Amino acid sequence: MNKKLRQAVIAGNWKMNKTRPEAKALIEELKPIAEKAACGVVICVPYTNLETAVALTAGTNIKVGAENCHFEKSGAFTGEVSADMLKEVGVEYVIIGHSERRQYFGETDVTVNKRTKAALAAGLNVIVCVGEMLDEREKGITDEIVAMQTKVALLGVTAEQLKNVIIAYEPVWAIGTGKTASAEQANEVCSLIRATVAKLYTQADADALTIQYGGSMNPKNAAELLAQPDVDGGLIGGASLKANDFGVLLEAASI
Ligand code: 13P
Repeated sequence: MNKKLRQAVIAGNWKMNKTRPEAKALIEELKPIAEKAACGVVICVPYTNLETAVALTAGTNIKVGAENCHFEKSGAFTGEVSADMLKEVGVEYVIIGHSERRQYFGETDVTVNKRTKAALAAGLNVIVCVGEMLDEREKGITDEIVAMQTKVALLGVTAEQLKNVIIAYEPVWAIGTGKTASAEQANEVCSLIRATVAKLYTQADADALTIQYGGSMNPKNAAELLAQPDVDGGLIGGASLKANDFGVLLEAASI
C-alpha cells in the first residue's frame, strides 16, 4: 500500500449546526488556516448554508459539500434536494449514507447506492459512509457488514466514476461519543474496504481510493489515526465546528 497514490482529504460534517451568520464567521476563521493545508479540505454544511459557503470559499482551497441528496432528478419528493440542484449552486461534494441518515431516516444500502449513482451522474464527488453498529462489532461481524455496505453502495459505479468517490469508515459506536476506534482498528477496517474495492475493480483503482476514518477524531488522536497506512484522512463532526481544532487535523493530514 502506498499513501502517495492517493490524496488525504479532511472533510468537516457540520450536521445540523450553524445558522448563516455563524457559518460565515466559521468559514472566515477557517480560510487562513486551511490555506496552509497540503491535504484536500472539504466542509459539508446544511443546505441553508450551501450558497453562503460556496460564495465565501470561492478562490480558496476549501471545497463545499452537502450532507445528502435525493436519487431522483426532480419530482414529488417533499423535503428532498436533487444532485443537480446541489451542482447548480456550486457544490462539489456530497455525503451519502451517513449513519445518522441510516439510523434516523430509514436510509438503506439500496438507497445509498441509488443516491451515490445519482450524485456521481450529476458530476459530484461522493463521500460514501460505511460502518458497523456496536452490537455488530461485538458479534464479530464488522468485516461482513462493512464489506456488504461497500459492495452495495458501489453497485453499478464504473471505474471512471470511482475516481470521484471517497469512502468514509465511521464505526457508529465512535460517532459523537468520544470513543475513538483505536488506530489499529481503524486501519484494519479501512484496509478491508480497500481489499473489497480491489476485488470489485482493480488493485490500482483500490490503491487510488481515498478512505477516511470518522468518529470522534480530534486534535489529540488525529496524528496517530492519520499515520495509519490505509487511513487517508477523516470525516469530522464535532471538531469541524471549531476552526482551530479543524486546523490541527488539517495539519496532521498534511504530513
Ligand atoms: P464526530 O467527529 O462528532 O464523532 O462525528 C463523526 C461523524 O459522524 C462525521 O460524519
